Amino acid sequence: MSDDRPIGVFDSGIGGLTVLKALARRMPGENLVYFGDTAHVPYGSKSPAAVARYSAAVARFLAGRKVKALVVACNTSSALALGEIRAAAGRIPVVGVIEPGARAAAAATRRGRVGVIGTEATIASRAYTKALLDARPGLAVKAVACPLFVPLVEEGWWRHRAAALVAREYLEPLRRARVDTLVLGCTHYPMLKPLLQRVMGSAVRLIDSAEQTAWETEALLENSGGRRSARAGRREFYCSDAPKRFLSLARRMLGLTVSNVTLHPFDI
Ligand code: DGL
Repeated sequence: MSDDRPIGVFDSGIGGLTVLKALARRMPGENLVYFGDTAHVPYGSKSPAAVARYSAAVARFLAGRKVKALVVACNTSSALALGEIRAAAGRIPVVGVIEPGARAAAAATRRGRVGVIGTEATIASRAYTKALLDARPGLAVKAVACPLFVPLVEEGWWRHRAAALVAREYLEPLRRARVDTLVLGCTHYPMLKPLLQRVMGSAVRLIDSAEQTAWETEALLENSGGRRSARAGRREFYCSDAPKRFLSLARRMLGLTVSNVTLHPFDI
């Protein structure tokens, strides 16, 4: 039996496309439907109540698209609103990015010293610290908010010297804490990977939760008998505002040839 229902993927904007790419690489036959809440981005500087309200509305929309699983490809939503998203999704299984990323980091660290970078809201929630300590009690965790990284990435400045300057400033406390593993706790940050690696040094392991999340989503579908047996899946894209900007950022950031994005505004 082939389950042709799509996997729903959502983010506050385009960052979650790094997770969509990982899902498509791992499960090319699956249909994927992506929602970028571009009307309300950034989530990272909003209150937990606002993030929960927006995230639940997107989850309801994707549930209405009859998805078979919902991947929350946004660290801020995963950190602040997983409960509300699960309530809105009903019986649809929900996979966030925090726990897969934390599990991967807990397994990777050699000396038990883990750094986490993310948006202000993600870091303030302490969701990564909790998930890391659940995965491996006794870890030393140093978490730092890096609010300027998202606008730098959206400006296409991931190789710009301004990004290098900002990265050196933000990462200094993590270098001083001598972390051996660094979790990229925001879906935009994989774009900065070469720079972050250079600043932290080659001995530090960078953990990007996209791959691990794709792997856990595949395992979930395998276990529930929900895989689609086909060679190529369909990709559908929605956003809540400025579809042209969505298209050009998707192309520039990820080289994704998104041919069409449907505007679906919602008032909350
Ligand atoms: N994609 C969001 C995240 O992973 C970052 C962008 C935002 O602040 O909305 O946290």
